Amino acid sequence: MRDLTSDGITPAVISTMRETKDPRLAEILGSLVRHLHDFVRDVELTEDEWAAGVDFLTRTGHTCTPTRQEFILLSDVLGVTMLVDALGNRRPAKATQNSVLGPYFREDRPRHADGADISGGLPGTPLFFEGEVVDRDGAPVPAAAVDVWHSDADGHYDMEVSGRTGPAMRALLRTDESGHFGFRSIRPSSYPIPGDGPVGELMSATDRSLMRPAHVHLLIEAPGFQRVTTMLFPADDPYLDTDPVFGVKESLVEPYETYAADAGPCHGLTEVPYTLLRRTFVLEPLPAG
Ligand code: BEZ
Ligand code: FE
Repeated sequence: MRDLTSDGITPAVISTMRETKDPRLAEILGSLVRHLHDFVRDVELTEDEWAAGVDFLTRTGHTCTPTRQEFILLSDVLGVTMLVDALGNRRPAKATQNSVLGPYFREDRPRHADGADISGGLPGTPLFFEGEVVDRDGAPVPAAAVDVWHSDADGHYDMEVSGRTGPAMRALLRTDESGHFGFRSIRPSSYPIPGDGPVGELMSATDRSLMRPAHVHLLIEAPGFQRVTTMLFPADDPYLDTDPVFGVKESLVEPYETYAADAGPCHGLTEVPYTLLRRTFVLEPLPAG
């Protein structure tokens, strides 16, 4: 292994890993070295560019804290998060599709009873959510755990609302015997992904928008079924086609129906116009074995 050329260095590096015990690790590392070297050759990476890349990744690491994961955000904006999900969760079109989890899920969310108001008293257009969880044959899935979380009318999650510490606009619910669940909250708004770190620099250098379309997140789990990590977007949102994290799927776009206070299925429950969001979620069984 001497006098390696710019082509010969690739098999040389891979051959140093030939004793790797775990065959999957060997496959991943071999492919990583091949693609990384091909990339460097392809763009003829200069020393200054290599140093800039190392600095970018170093600062990405330094931006991470117990509550902020800049590497996952980088994965999100490079499409890697949704690509890994697409490969790992190939579901029939009728089943509810996944989207990104995002950084705003909190373990310390309150359990709420069916139909509860989870808004925490925050101002906004009232939102009524009526959900149903079924299996691929349309049979109800009772006692499914349903996590919901969303932003407020200004696009802030509870931890970002100034002066507020407790959870709001998030809940752990459970489906009833007929597979239904529901809650009341306020209508979420579109918001920018965090742009004050290295990922923000990358987005601005590539002239990309930080704005995510408005959405309600849901995470649904039931024994014997694949977990669904998803979100529902309003059909009239202006950012549907420029989502910086590539999480929008046509099947997750819903009409957020808007009614006057005295009209529609929830008439009389509010004194102001409200939004009604209704959705059936179809779970896939876990693979046999
Ligand atoms: C979110 O929808 O909460 C989100 C997802 C990915 C990156 C940032 C935010
Ligand atoms: Fe979100």
